[in-house]
Amino acid sequence: MYTGMLHTHTLAVGLFLILYVIKTLILLFGSADSLSKFTAKTKIAEMVISSLFLATGVFLYFNSGNITWMVNLKIALVLASIPLAIVGFKKRNSVLAVLSLLLLFGAYGLAEMNKKQVTRAPKPEVIIGSSELEAGKNLYVAYCQACHGENGDAGRSGAKNLKVSALSKSEMEAYIRIGKGAMPGFSNLSQEEIDAIILYTDTFRQK
Ligand code: HEC
Repeated sequence: MYTGMLHTHTLAVGLFLILYVIKTLILLFGSADSLSKFTAKTKIAEMVISSLFLATGVFLYFNSGNITWMVNLKIALVLASIPLAIVGFKKRNSVLAVLSLLLLFGAYGLAEMNKKQVTRAPKPEVIIGSSELEAGKNLYVAYCQACHGENGDAGRSGAKNLKVSALSKSEMEAYIRIGKGAMPGFSNLSQEEIDAIILYTDTFRQK
């Protein structure tokens, strides 16, 4: 469900940006007449795309495990760009229209940056003398818990339930290293760290 929403959102955002770039270019370099013609022709498509964009965005916001300040700033930029675009295109004010587009691209950039953010969380301090299981727990809390939850079954951001996971150790390793869908790859973790995390997540299955 979450992954499907994420793909729909990405697609809607992409189409929305393309439409707005074209409209802004026509506003800047075309005639007033060609802008009204284009707007009339794309009116329904624009309504569908922007509704999808907003509806999937709201769903993702409430089902995501990691709302960071970047996500909130991204939403603020998108919300600020809407009135600018409406006024800009209505009054044919190219400064407002370009500003609105810049805000949208800024929001897009923030979303891309935010994706990688979770893998860059600082590593928990390794306490000398702590067991592999404890190390695994600390790493899990730092990198995995936001989505998978304290007991592995929170399912935020579309995360799979680790309690019922039937994956082998090497399949899990691949998941952690490379990631999949909404799960980022943790190429920053060493073999020992991944081993420790898997040792810890194995304890979920027995509960
Ligand atoms: C941003 C959210 C997020 C974070 C952080 C995250 N995961 Fe995931 N995880 C997911 C999602 C989403 C899936 C399902 C991906 C898919 O199959 O499309 C998943 C799937 C998995 C699976 C596969 C389970 C199965 O049975 O298929 C494993 C194992 C896993 N995660 C372990 C981890 C570990 C270990 C960490 C920390 C190092 C971690 N995840 C961090 C979101 C996350």
